[in-house]
Amino acid sequence: MTSEGMVKPAAKRPEIHQPIAVVIFHSLNIFAVLLMAGSGLQIYNANPVFGGRSGFQIPELFCLGGWLAGGRHWHFAAMWLFALNMLFYVGYVIWKKRYRKRYVSTADAHAILHPDNPKRAIYAWHRLVYSAILPVLLFALVTGPAMFKPAQLGSLVQSLGGWDSLRVFHFATVPLLVVFVILHSILAFRSGGIALVRSMFRC
Ligand code: HEM
Repeated sequence: MTSEGMVKPAAKRPEIHQPIAVVIFHSLNIFAVLLMAGSGLQIYNANPVFGGRSGFQIPELFCLGGWLAGGRHWHFAAMWLFALNMLFYVGYVIWKKRYRKRYVSTADAHAILHPDNPKRAIYAWHRLVYSAILPVLLFALVTGPAMFKPAQLGSLVQSLGGWDSLRVFHFATVPLLVVFVILHSILAFRSGGIALVRSMFRC
């Protein structure tokens, strides 16, 4: 309202633009992760990690592939999309020196530890959470082939305590991703609103 009682036209919020390469990576990554998780859970059901063959089964609704071989086909096919997309992103981050400003920093650590400015603290958490998921994605990518070729990648298998515990570690990336997506979505909305969220899905 102005002092004369007239309604001011709403100030237009500046649009947020993300580099097109990042928008493509982000969307393809969500798609690839969904395929990987769905087909991974299908494989899981053939021999549950917890409780053996009579252990808890994941409801079919969350599984992709129909049966073990179908799940494996989807898992290996989607792995290429997931891996090549990650490779492209890592190359882009190095080429554009994106690592210099884009990820969690000591300034963010300070904002989290001394939250005098709540908005800045939320933004710092947001950066921390999306930075932290990158090593988890890489871990999932490396431990998968180690489970497939344990003889060739024996030292990696042994460093994680053997094939059975490697399987638990690989599987653990799924619940971690579920928690991540919930936190990441809330923090993205809270730190930049719908404009920020839209920016990540639009060219
Ligand atoms: C598997 C699921 C997801 C993964 C692994 C993921 C990962 C990431 C990563 C690594 C970044 C930083 C990219 C960069 O700037 O270089 C990012 C940014 C972002 N993501 Fe996601 N994301 C996922 C799902 C989602 C979903 C469902 C939403 C919707 C709410 C979302 C919203 C955003 C937004 C808005 C940004 C930009 C942050 C900013 O500019 O401050 N993401 N995401």
